[in-house]
Amino acid sequence: MRRTIGSSGLSVAPIGLGGMPMSIQGRPPEAEALRTIHAALDAGMDFIDTADVYCKDDTDIGHNERLIAKALRDRADGRSVVVATKGGLERPKGDWTTNGRPEHLRSACDRSLAALGVDQIQLYQLHAPDDDVPFADSVGALAELRAAGKIAHVGLSNVSVAEIEAARAIVPIVSVQNRCNPFDRSAWTDGVVQYCTANGLAFLPYSPVGGGRGKAKVATDKTLVAVGQRHGVSPFQVTLAWLLAKSPVMLPIPGASKVASAVDSAAAMKLVLTAEDLAELDRAFPT
Ligand SMILES: NC(=O)c1ccc[n+]([C@@H]2O[C@H](COP(=O)([O-])OP(=O)(O)OC[C@H]3O[C@@H](n4cnc5c(N)ncnc54)[C@H](OP(=O)(O)O)[C@@H]3O)[C@@H](O)[C@H]2O)c1
Repeated sequence: MRRTIGSSGLSVAPIGLGGMPMSIQGRPPEAEALRTIHAALDAGMDFIDTADVYCKDDTDIGHNERLIAKALRDRADGRSVVVATKGGLERPKGDWTTNGRPEHLRSACDRSLAALGVDQIQLYQLHAPDDDVPFADSVGALAELRAAGKIAHVGLSNVSVAEIEAARAIVPIVSVQNRCNPFDRSAWTDGVVQYCTANGLAFLPYSPVGGGRGKAKVATDKTLVAVGQRHGVSPFQVTLAWLLAKSPVMLPIPGASKVASAVDSAAAMKLVLTAEDLAELDRAFPT
């Protein structure tokens, strides 16, 4: 039932919470966001994905990390929650730009440590390769942060198989986070899911139910809706359970800014799709 994050030794519930919608444009009031995080944890999630740049713009860096830290401080249940964050992007005037320079990654990591209120980040992911910086320099900076004990484990995001292999020659990599959902199956066509499965790296599909714009497609897709109706569950749950069934290394991180979304996604952990369901889904969404 639980899944491990690569060779990290960290074991988490198979569905995690994506923090982004609680902090970017259109975000909910803070009280609603805090209720959403608590609802996700109460429903059994214990893995949260965030990033320094989940915020409105460069005046607001760390918004999502501070929100998660606040929610975790308020909890008295003593359950451990794995928080993964990222560095390597910036938000000038609300835009999204890459900055994989080692000096940026070092200061971003220090800011994330402060925002999360921890001495060590459990999983620190390079948000994306920076075309203007040698990839090995960015990964090398993360290797140094790991050696210094500021981060326990290194992950990558938005990478190809060649980049994963290049990074693994520099530092152990425990996870890869790329976009992946029924309507964006490039993680299979480019071989990243297969590579992670074969090498025991966790694969964290981001925007697993289509993202802010694509979620309407999941909500109305006839196959997802039909399978959901057979089980009395939402097409979102069917999507997440299908992803989980695709590989033992899958760890979807559906985003939520509402309590209902987080609770519904968490319930996908318990949904067992039949062989017939899976065959129907694979015909609709061939990988
Ligand atoms: N590494 C990267 O470059 C990258 C890029 C994008 C995202 N991410 C990460 O991946 C996470 C997930 O991606 P995402 O947030 O873009 O898209 P997503 O998980 O596909 O979710 C999109 C929206 O769908 C709604 N939703 C999710 N589960 C639902 C459910 N069970 N029932 C009804 N509605 C549901 C939520 O709406 P409400 O907001 O209305 O609750 C959510 O905001 C992010 O939060 C972030 O942590 C990483």
